[in-house]
Amino acid sequence: MENNKKPASSAGKFPDNFLWGAATSSYQTEGNNSNSDWWEWEQKGKTKNKSGIACDYWNRWREDHELLSELGVNSFRLSLEWSRIEPEEGVFSFTAIDRYRKMLEDLKKRNIKTVVTFWHWTSPLWFQKKYGWHRKKSVEIFTRYGEKVIDELGDYIDIAVILNEPAMPLVFGFLLGKYPPEKRNPFFCCKAFHNLVKAYKNIYAYIKEKNKRIPTGITTLYNYFEPKYRWCLMSRFLVWAGKKFWNESFFHKIKDSVDYFGLDYYFHDRMSILGIQNENKKVTDVNWEIYPVGIYEVLREIKEKYSLPIYIMENGLADAEDKNRTEFIKDHLAFVSKAIGEGADVRGYFYWSLTDNFEWLYGYAPRFGLVEIDYETLERKPRQSFYAYKKIIKNNGL
Ligand code: BGC
Repeated sequence: MENNKKPASSAGKFPDNFLWGAATSSYQTEGNNSNSDWWEWEQKGKTKNKSGIACDYWNRWREDHELLSELGVNSFRLSLEWSRIEPEEGVFSFTAIDRYRKMLEDLKKRNIKTVVTFWHWTSPLWFQKKYGWHRKKSVEIFTRYGEKVIDELGDYIDIAVILNEPAMPLVFGFLLGKYPPEKRNPFFCCKAFHNLVKAYKNIYAYIKEKNKRIPTGITTLYNYFEPKYRWCLMSRFLVWAGKKFWNESFFHKIKDSVDYFGLDYYFHDRMSILGIQNENKKVTDVNWEIYPVGIYEVLREIKEKYSLPIYIMENGLADAEDKNRTEFIKDHLAFVSKAIGEGADVRGYFYWSLTDNFEWLYGYAPRFGLVEIDYETLERKPRQSFYAYKKIIKNNGL
């Protein structure tokens, strides 16, 4: 492909006030979220490992914030665990809310902006058992939770991410039955889709009413789709469908109620009648193709479609030996910089993830962290790439 070449060395500059960050989520790092639907899912043996104590971020958050300061980031993306904040229907835990407040306060003291996800796929078990996203009542219940978060923690939130990648739990939880609530039912999937849209819009409206300064949106897992054969109509149709349904369908429903586009970029998919056929010349430990130019292509698409600021809320790879991570970050950032040079309003980049963590169905084997976790001792050990990223942050560029 023409623009597969690395951008010229003059690229690699970033705007002033660019947000340099790392991302995590509560369920994947906190540990012992035993009141959550995913916890029950694990007990049923549906994941490679059980999450258990995870990284024990719930108790060791100060240590991890120390690492953030060492890394030099000016922002951090983390999430709140709904099942901790509302352990029983309508009953809110002030112990949990206080702990989150302390964490956010600590980040503020360190001059680290807080990017807070309200729902990173996990729900309280009571919610899943009694309602679930496919039931109408879910809208009211989630809205109440979101409003509570704003009332209690709104002053400590710099950017709000109400939902993380809704397409994943919708497709995996309601069509493929691979995530809770293990449904394979297109009708439920549509219901859940619409309920998530409504709940999102309610919380957006509440934030605007109460606390206008918080930029609010969601993250979208946005893949770079290409036809495997340009001449093949079927390949091109599949690209169109991939973009329309996977990348855009949810966002289009809420696009008048967002303040930014939150991009999560991991995948390049060459579509053909035989399915996704990637060249996979270079892959991560979980066999996902490494394709940095894809981030440039999707930034171009997003820039053309929406006139919104863009935050890259996730980009990263599983690489236990840290062989490719530094190059991966540099190559992706070079293409981000190229897109910025051509007018994409990219305001931040969050590497996924700060530490190794619980990778859903895959369990603990994939290592996404800039910081290695020894799961026996929970000791944290920055990898080489941590220092390479630190240097980039310090120079505000490559
Ligand atoms: C999710 C994360 C996950 C990462 C790597 C993203 O789609 O938001 O929770 O760990 O991908 O798979």
